[in-house]
Amino acid sequence: MVKAETKKHIETVIDRFDASFYFYDLDLLRSHLSAMAEILDPDIKLWYACKANPMSAVLKVLRNLGFGIDVASSGELHQVLNSGIKGEHVIATGPGKSRDYLEHLIKNEVKTIVVESYNQVVWLDEAAQKLGKKVDALIRVQLDWNEGKSVLGGDAITPFGLGPEDWKQHDLQQFKNINFKGFHIFQWGNIMDPKKLESIWEKCVENILSLAADLNVSAEIMDLGGGLGVPYKEGQTKIDFKEIHEILVNLKKKYNLKTIWMELGRFTTAECGNYLTKIVDVKEVRGKKLLVTEGGINHCARVALTGQAFPCKALSPSNVKKVNFQVHGPLCTALDHLGDFDLPEDLKIGDWLIFTMAGAYGFTESMPYFLCHKLPGEALVYNNDLMVPRPPKTSYDWMI
Ligand SMILES: Cc1ncc(COP(=O)(O)O)c(C=O)c1O
Repeated sequence: MVKAETKKHIETVIDRFDASFYFYDLDLLRSHLSAMAEILDPDIKLWYACKANPMSAVLKVLRNLGFGIDVASSGELHQVLNSGIKGEHVIATGPGKSRDYLEHLIKNEVKTIVVESYNQVVWLDEAAQKLGKKVDALIRVQLDWNEGKSVLGGDAITPFGLGPEDWKQHDLQQFKNINFKGFHIFQWGNIMDPKKLESIWEKCVENILSLAADLNVSAEIMDLGGGLGVPYKEGQTKIDFKEIHEILVNLKKKYNLKTIWMELGRFTTAECGNYLTKIVDVKEVRGKKLLVTEGGINHCARVALTGQAFPCKALSPSNVKKVNFQVHGPLCTALDHLGDFDLPEDLKIGDWLIFTMAGAYGFTESMPYFLCHKLPGEALVYNNDLMVPRPPKTSYDWMI
């Protein structure tokens, strides 16, 4: 059930624009984050991986509650700086850092830079020397470990960092303009089972500590990335951050770690966001009930990329029996399949669907230009005030 207050705001946006949009409840975001911040051990630092949702209002809520921001491109860096957040509260991850970008990060006082290749180390050292600064860096490592697939690559060979043996080919002591403060490792994402996270983290930490000794590099900071899952499937229980926090505190004790960092994406913002679109056609095809919606993977491509649907409900459900519908967006590809859901059987053209858990990897993880449909809007509620910082747009706004 959508809360009555939230539904009222959503209906205002529908009345005003009558086009698909994202809706974020930043009051919910704030209370979720406050509960996390309140229990945080002083040696555990949380960053926000802003690839999940880089909207400036979202960034500000996170910053105000003590989260640093993780950026993975110059676009994200500029969005963070343009939102009034200083470089000192930023960490830079990502495999695609050029020499110029590394220099740009240092010029903007970015606090910590995660080096993901030997080239990045060389360029970072050169850029720091040129600018007369010493910069903090974390060394990103990927393990060859049979733990299975993941959206982050899992045990596949990926562009994220280097393997331990690869790093050991290099003498990092020669780089006098870099303070190597620790390591970064993150290969398994969207995990719902705290026990599984614990066993992954133990394995990661053991490998990193052994590599740190071999490289003679400090492991003062152990950055475990993100990876906390959210309930996309019916019946799944939400992760309790207290339990995760306890695991991290125990990990710190067990391995005598100084500080643990994480950059969370999905777990921070997914729950506060919803995607809304309306039904434009209803039909039965070879015995299957189908709904065709105004927006689809052009507005939320994550569904097609991962094969995992956002949970879906009718915005105004009736009490009639539910039947299974196959829900498709408007694109001329069968990939535009938003999922199969049990929904009230009397749904009709013009009714609205609400997809939940869409506050992370939603708006910016989309392919909005394909087929020149409308671009979704972005609306939010904060202190119970409704704001629409991004009204929906038509193709006239961007076609040339
Ligand atoms: C380096 C890094 N850190 C953190 C995250 C956030 O991961 P999650 O959304 O699973 O918390 C990502 C996601 O791709 C990432 O690449």
